[in-house]
Amino acid sequence: MNESNRSLYQLVLHHLELHHGDQVLEIGFGNGHFFKEVLHKAEKLKLYGIDYSAAMVKAARKNNLDLIRQGLLDLQMGSSDQLPYAPGRFDAVFCINVIYFWDKPFTHLQEIGRVMKPGARFYVGIRTKEIMEKLPFVTPLFKLRGAEEIQHIFAECGF
Ligand SMILES: C[S@@+](CC[C@H](N)C(=O)[O-])C[C@H]1O[C@@H](n2cnc3c(N)ncnc32)[C@H](O)[C@@H]1O
Repeated sequence: MNESNRSLYQLVLHHLELHHGDQVLEIGFGNGHFFKEVLHKAEKLKLYGIDYSAAMVKAARKNNLDLIRQGLLDLQMGSSDQLPYAPGRFDAVFCINVIYFWDKPFTHLQEIGRVMKPGARFYVGIRTKEIMEKLPFVTPLFKLRGAEEIQHIFAECGF
């Protein structure tokens, strides 16, 4: 998964606008393979991650022990519709290959909006519905939405 998703991470990281000292949240980090690359985007970043899979949190902690010990990374188990962070906490939030799992996107988007500072950015990396439909591991559990529908949902939530 890390190899097949590398290009999508690179695309999102290319657009990710981060500044010295920013507080950044990744939702659904999987095994946390790309945290080091995010931390190279600017000086003195503090990176937070939340994932609802205990197995992924365990793997990501193991893969990033050095960053956690240095105080650069904080990982928690939880879901994007109930975030354990104070309002207005983050300068940037991003997620890659995650929104396919949102049954009720409004709940997640409202919660993400709550933890963002005014003017903060939310970056979402996804493959298109047309590409996803051709992948063998994609089951009805994936909520595939077209670009227009996604834009509409995000706009309704103020993004
Ligand atoms: C397909 S994997 C993608 C992992 C990584 N972002 C990547 O692209 O390689 C989706 C990840 O998001 C997590 N996830 C899905 N829905 C979530 C939610 N509502 N809140 C937090 N994590 C979630 C899953 O546990 C999983 O680790």
